[in-house]
Order: sequence, then structure tokens, then C-alpha cells
Amino acid sequence: MNATVLMPGLLHIGGGCRERLLETLSQLGLHRPLLVTDPFLAAQGLHEPLLRALGEAQVPCGVFADCVPDPTTDSVGAGLAVCAEGDYDCLVALGGGSAIDTAKAIAVLARHGGEMRDYRVPASVPPGLPVIAVPTTAGTGSEVTRAAVITDSRDGEKMLCMGPGLVPAAALVDYELSLSMPPRLTADTGLDALCHALEAYVSRKANPFTDSLALAALTAIGRYLETAWREPGNCAAREAMMLAATQAGIAFANASVTLIHGMSRPLGAHFHVPHGLGNAMLLAEVTAWSVPAAPGRYADCARALGLAAPAECDERAVERLVSGLRALTVRLEVPGPEAWGIAEADWREALPLMAEQALASGSPANNPRLASAAEIEALYRRLWA
Ligand SMILES: NC(=O)c1ccc[n+]([C@@H]2O[C@H](COP(=O)([O-])OP(=O)(O)OC[C@H]3O[C@@H](n4cnc5c(N)ncnc54)[C@H](O)[C@@H]3O)[C@@H](O)[C@H]2O)c1
Ligand SMILES: [Fe+2]
Repeated sequence: MNATVLMPGLLHIGGGCRERLLETLSQLGLHRPLLVTDPFLAAQGLHEPLLRALGEAQVPCGVFADCVPDPTTDSVGAGLAVCAEGDYDCLVALGGGSAIDTAKAIAVLARHGGEMRDYRVPASVPPGLPVIAVPTTAGTGSEVTRAAVITDSRDGEKMLCMGPGLVPAAALVDYELSLSMPPRLTADTGLDALCHALEAYVSRKANPFTDSLALAALTAIGRYLETAWREPGNCAAREAMMLAATQAGIAFANASVTLIHGMSRPLGAHFHVPHGLGNAMLLAEVTAWSVPAAPGRYADCARALGLAAPAECDERAVERLVSGLRALTVRLEVPGPEAWGIAEADWREALPLMAEQALASGSPANNPRLASAAEIEALYRRLWA
């Protein structure tokens, strides 16, 4: 093996570890944080204990609470303006992938200027202000990744920005913050984490380090996702899912995602399908199409997820993987594009551009089975059917 691994230098993991924010700031030598969150979480008062603790320690802290789901250059710009008003030396991102990605984008623009467009792939993003990520969903893994996804408000392009500079300086991975997730969000974010682990494991860039994390994540997700969805207050399931999402995040950040994520981003850009739901829609069909190129790797995933018995042959295991993923997404009530409200004419019209954008993202090049634009279009058509 010859691999380079990037992840935050400091990870606190476990119930209640959000209370270690003050200690984390001091470990990193930081003194003036701007807390970044979204209006829903702020209305729930999720950030108040953090602000109280900082206030008691006389650490001045500003707040930007206007993150939007699937952050845009406009919403990042509003946060950047708040950041520029104060003398902040770091950002604390409290929320799902949207709040964390917003903080990452503000951090880069605050230090280096320019526009988010300047930092999209293939540019490599340089380090901005340090970000301390405190995830409230168990899904995106953004708390440990070198990526941020920002939509250009001018033309709707979902821009993938990547680079070592986007890895948070620290993450506080506290499952207690995920207990309030409603079932739909639990399912979508949990299936996002499942895709991260599965895609990292079958990726052409996988290595033994990322494999170990991907398999650990798949094992936990197979065991606990449905429990967390059915029983939101089940602490054991929430704790396992939060850890799995972070492990899957480290795995895909260092092995890459593949065709599922490549095809899912255009669903968000054209039809505002939430990130996790778009992946969930594609999971079973794209897996069925990709399996013949790496049956042994997919069979390992089936066994880790608990869909196939350890002794079952690869051929039988991959059959069980495809049927098991189909059944899982049905049980978790993942709608197809039509049931989600997309008009068939709009879908058909968008397909060629969606296929082109999926390929341009680069992620499909890591898939074990390489897809042409025509094959990606055919997969989108199969998804509708
Ligand atoms: N940077 C990366 O590596 C990476 C990876 C995958 C996805 N993403 C990005 O992450 C974003 C999606 O993030 P997400 O799926 O975590 O959702 P999100 O951050 O968009 O949040 C969705 C909704 O759930 C609410 N919410 C969040 N936590 C909650 C909780 N504990 N209880 C109740 N409600 C809660 C939010 O207020 C929001 O209304 C997308 O923009 C996607 O592109 C980034
Ligand atoms: Fe994702």
C-alpha cells in the first residue's frame, strides 16, 4: 500500500463531546469563533448551550444562523459579510452538511478572497480559517472531508470544491445532537453514509486503510440504520450511525465516491432533490449495473451489511446485495423521481445535460464499471421506470 490520508487533526467522538468545544478551541490556540448554523437548528436553541459555555469563559462568539440547505454562493456571501464584521479567528459549524460546507466556504473566502467558482474542482483549495465541525446529522461526513459543495446562485451549478484546505481542523462527533432527526432525514442521511462507505470500498482509489473504515461503517449501518429510523430516541442506534457516518466520511474522502454520487449531484442541481435522497434513489440501480466489474468487492459489502452470510459465494452474495438494497430503500420509503414530484417531460429534457454533468464531476471515473454518457442516460431512464 502507498496512500496519503487526510483527516482532521483532532476528533472528539462520543455522547456529550460537544461540551468540549472550549477545550478544543484552547487545544488549537483559537480565541474568537464565529458560530455558523441554520435557522431551524437556531430556532430549536441547539446552539445556546455552546454560546453559554463560551460566554461563561468570556470567549467572544459571533453567530451566523442563515445557512440554507444545499448552500449557495448567496448564502455563503451573507455569512462572509458577518465574518468580515468581526475579528474572528475560526468558525464553529453546527449542523448538517449544509452548515459545515457553508462554514468551510466562508473560511476559505475570508482568508483568500475571490469567489467560490475560483475554488471548484480541479482547483485545490488552500487552508482558510480553521473550522471546528459539530455535525447534527449522521450522513455527509463533511466534518472529516476535504470537500464542500456550493451551488452557484447565478446559474444553479452545484460546484464541487476540494482540497486539503477544506479539512476541518477539528470535529466534535456527538450522537446526542442527532437524536432530534425526523425519520425522513434519518433515512436520507443514513443512506448517504451507506453510499459513501459502499462507493469508497468499490472505488478504484480504495486502499486497505479506507477499506477497513468502509467495512466497519457498512457493518454498523446494516445493523442500526432501520432501528434509528423506527426509534429516533434509540441511543445505541444513533451512536452507531454517527460513528459510521464519520468513518464512511474518512473512507470516501481518501478513496473517493463513484458513479452514485456523480449521478446524484445533477438531481440536486436540476430538481432540488436533497443530497442523501438523490443517492438513495440511485443506490440499488447503479449498484446492480456496476456489480459485474467487481463482484468480489460488492460481495464483501453484502456480507458487511448483513445481507449475505459470511460463507455464501460471491455470486449469491451480490444477488442478495442488489435485492437487499432495493428492499431497504422500499422499507425506508425512498420515493422514485416521479413520486417525488418531478414531471416526466422535465426529466426527459434534462437527461442529456445531467449525464454530461455527472461525467464532468469526475466521480464516475472511480467506478469499477466505467459508464459512457449514453449509459448514464440509460441508467437515469431505468430509475424513472
Ligand atoms: N462536504 C462534503 O464532504 C459533503 C458530503 C456529502 C454531502 N455534502 C453536502 O451536505 C448537504 C446535505 O447535508 P445534510 O444531509 O446533513 O442535511 P442539511 O445540512 O442540508 O440539513 C437538512 C435539514 O435538516 C435539518 N437538521 C439538521 N440536523 C438536524 C437535527 N439533528 N434534527 C432535526 N433537523 C435537523 C436542517 O435544519 C435542515 O433543515 C448537501 O449540501 C450536500 O451537498 C457535503
Ligand atoms: Fe454524500
